[in-house]
Amino acid sequence: MAFIIFLLTVLCALGSSPTPSLYEVYRFPNGTWVENIAVRPNGNLLVALVNTPELWEITPSTHLGHSTAQLVCHFDRADSVNGITELSPDIYAVVASNSVWKVDLSVCQNVSKPIRIATLPAGTLNGMATLDEERRSVAISDSQLGLVWRLDTHTGNYTVIHQDETMAPTDELGLMLGINGLRITNGYLYYNNSPRRIFCRVHIDRHTGGALGPYETIAHNVLADDFAVNSNGVAYLAGLTDNVVTKVFRNGSHKVIAGSLDSKDLMTATSAAFGKLPNGREILYVTTGGESEHPVNNTYTRGGKIMALAGDL
Ligand SMILES: *[C@@H]1O[C@H](CO)[C@@H](O)[C@H](O)[C@H]1NC(C)=O
Ligand SMILES: *[C@@H]1O[C@H](CO)[C@@H](O)[C@H](O)[C@H]1NC(C)=O
Ligand SMILES: *[C@@H]1O[C@H](CO)[C@@H](O)[C@H](O)[C@H]1NC(C)=O
Ligand SMILES: *[C@@H]1O[C@H](CO)[C@@H](O)[C@H](O)[C@H]1NC(C)=O
Ligand SMILES: *[C@@H]1O[C@H](CO)[C@@H](O)[C@H](O)[C@H]1NC(C)=O
Repeated sequence: MAFIIFLLTVLCALGSSPTPSLYEVYRFPNGTWVENIAVRPNGNLLVALVNTPELWEITPSTHLGHSTAQLVCHFDRADSVNGITELSPDIYAVVASNSVWKVDLSVCQNVSKPIRIATLPAGTLNGMATLDEERRSVAISDSQLGLVWRLDTHTGNYTVIHQDETMAPTDELGLMLGINGLRITNGYLYYNNSPRRIFCRVHIDRHTGGALGPYETIAHNVLADDFAVNSNGVAYLAGLTDNVVTKVFRNGSHKVIAGSLDSKDLMTATSAAFGKLPNGREILYVTTGGESEHPVNNTYTRGGKIMALAGDL
C-alpha cells in the first residue's frame, strides 16, 4: 500500500501540471498585515502595511531567513497603506488612506519623503494601476463606494470613470466592500469584487480610462483580495481567508494552485505580483495579512508574510 502511494506521488510529481513550489521570502512580526506589493526594477519588493501607515522594501533572498527589510516611508495622518503602482521607472504612486502620494526611489535609493498628489472624496481607496501610456494617470478602486476613480498625478484632478453593478459593495464580509483589486493589462482593466466572489474585466480607453465595451464577469465563486494578471490575461488571485492562490484562465475556468483552507502557508492572502529570480525565471510573490485575524484552527498567530511561488505557474 505504502509503495502504491509512493508510486502515485511520484507519478503526480511527474505529471503534466505539477503544482508550483511555495517558499517564504520574509515574515513580519506578529500583528503586521501586509496588504499590497510592487516589484522594483532592481527586483526588490515594495510592500504596503495596513496595521501601520508604512511602506517597506524587502530585498528578497531565495535562502530562508536571508531576506532583509527596511522602512521606505511612514505616511503621516494616514491609517494604512494600500495600492502601489509604478508611474515612471522607480517612481511610484501610493495610496495611503484616501490620499495618493508620490514616492520617488529613482534618484536616491533611500529617499523617503513622499509628496502628496491629492486627497479624494472617496469611500475607501484600495487597488491602483497606471492608466495611460504617458504613465501620468492612475485608476483607483474605491471599495466602499463601488467605483473606479481616475487621477491625473500631474494636476491632482480626479473623476469617477467606472461605476457598475459588478463593482457594487455589500456587507457580506463584515464591512461595506465591493471592487477590490485592480490591474491594467493590454487595454483591459481587470478587477475583482471580494464579497460577490467575482473576477471581471472591461476594455478601456487607455487615455480617458473610460469603458470601450461591456463589463464582463470572467469567473464566479472566486474569493480574492487582489491579484496579478499576465499579458495573456491569465490571473493569479490572492484568496483572502480561503488561504489560497487561484489561477483563473481567460475562459473563466479556475483552480487552486497553492495553499488550502486549513493551511497557514498563505494565511489571509492579500495580493500578488510577478518577479524574477536571479536566473531569469518568473516567480509570483504573494503577500499575506498574517495569521492573527482569522487564526487557522483558532490557534495559530503569526505576522504577515511575503511568499513566493516558483516553478510551473
Ligand atoms: C541616505 O542614507 C545615507 C547613509 O545612511 C544618509 O547619510 C543620507 O542622509 C540618507 N538620505 C536620505 C535622503 O535619507
Ligand atoms: C483640473 O481641474 C480644474 C478645476 O476643476 C480645472 O480648472 C482644470 O482645467 C483641470 N485640469 C485639467 C487638465 O483637466
Ligand atoms: C479553459 O482554458 C484552459 C487553459 O487553456 C483549458 O485547460 C480548459 O480546458 C478550458 N476550459 C474550458 C471549459 O474550455
Ligand atoms: C488544522 O486542523 C486540520 C484538521 O484537524 C489539520 O489537518 C491542520 O494541519 C491544522 N492546521 C494547523 C496549522 O494546525
Ligand atoms: C508570535 O505568535 C506565535 C504564535 O502565537 C508565538 O509563538 C510567538 O512567540 C509570537 N512572537 C512574538 C515575537 O510575539
